[in-house]
Amino acid sequence: ALVSMRQLLDHAAEHGYGIPAFNVNNLEQVQAIMEAAAETDSPVIMQASAGARKYAGEGFLKYLIQAAVESYPHIPVVMHQDHGQSPKVCQGAIDLGFSSVMMDGSLKEDGKTIADYDYNVEVTKKVVDIAHKLGVTVEGELGCLGSLETMEGDKEDGHGADGKLTMDQLLTDPEQAADFVRRTQLDALAIAIGTSHGAYKFTRKPTGDILSISRIKEIHARLPNTHLVMHGSSSVPQELLAEIREFGGNMKETYGVPVEEIQEAIKYGVRKINIDTDIRLAMTGAIRRFFAENPEKFDPREYLKPARAAAKAICVARYNEFGTAGNA
Ligand code: G3H
Ligand code: 13P
Ligand code: NA
Ligand code: ZN
Repeated sequence: ALVSMRQLLDHAAEHGYGIPAFNVNNLEQVQAIMEAAAETDSPVIMQASAGARKYAGEGFLKYLIQAAVESYPHIPVVMHQDHGQSPKVCQGAIDLGFSSVMMDGSLKEDGKTIADYDYNVEVTKKVVDIAHKLGVTVEGELGCLGSLETMEGDKEDGHGADGKLTMDQLLTDPEQAADFVRRTQLDALAIAIGTSHGAYKFTRKPTGDILSISRIKEIHARLPNTHLVMHGSSSVPQELLAEIREFGGNMKETYGVPVEEIQEAIKYGVRKINIDTDIRLAMTGAIRRFFAENPEKFDPREYLKPARAAAKAICVARYNEFGTAGNA
């Protein structure tokens, strides 16, 4: 059944596990997530970015997720809007039937200018007022995703702050977080701790100076009852990079967020873990391999099948690693 995100996050907090939130853009990704959830008995958060809605069309996305809900009636499914850039976008998603929305007021509507704090409070509160009347969950964001190695905002997928950032902007302040939650009454808070979107997060396996799990602990100590969200949480598995390279891809050396760091974060209030890139890498590796091994093939079903299986394998792994399995 379609459920609110609050319901799932409350259960996760009560039982001390995390839930991966997978981005979806097409049929095969939706199917992969649902197959993985069914196999591991996991609750599902599927999220659609503005880019996803543009790619697939809102109606197609809505009914793909609806089809997932109907095909797996025993699995709770959240349909979440990822990175809504204005109250208007969030309202549109709510009208379409999303059970959860993110108002990302850390940036202005252009998705690249850093917003001031009062603006963020105002737009987030506005969405909470609209959404809560309808039982829709709201995620907000405080702080700017970006690299503590380069001090740059995250730009790889076309949204993220322009130019150089300060440490204060790249790491969410616990006191300000407490004020933000109190003033907005949101359900889940996305925080900045040094992660960024896309495949190129870190130039080396991250240590505490560039991936601040200690900041999560400080925020959780100040806000023990708030559900925290980690964006940019793909692990960028080295074996997937190797597969892509082996079959003709060009991907430079890069590192993601290690699963064991996410597992540590889950002990300190992180309940929703956003993952898009790992599924992209898995599908691309499988498709590159397929064509390298079967150059005569041309039926999309034949190459999308291994791609779907590779995406499913990532989802199964994360459901098990985050403790989501068994909680549907
Ligand atoms: O928010 C980041 C997600 O990875 C979505 O990326 O905007 O390219 O769909 P996208
Ligand atoms: P990744 O790029 O690390 O998968 O992060 C996705 C994300 O945060 C979507 O909001
Ligand atoms: Na989100
Ligand atoms: Zn994100």
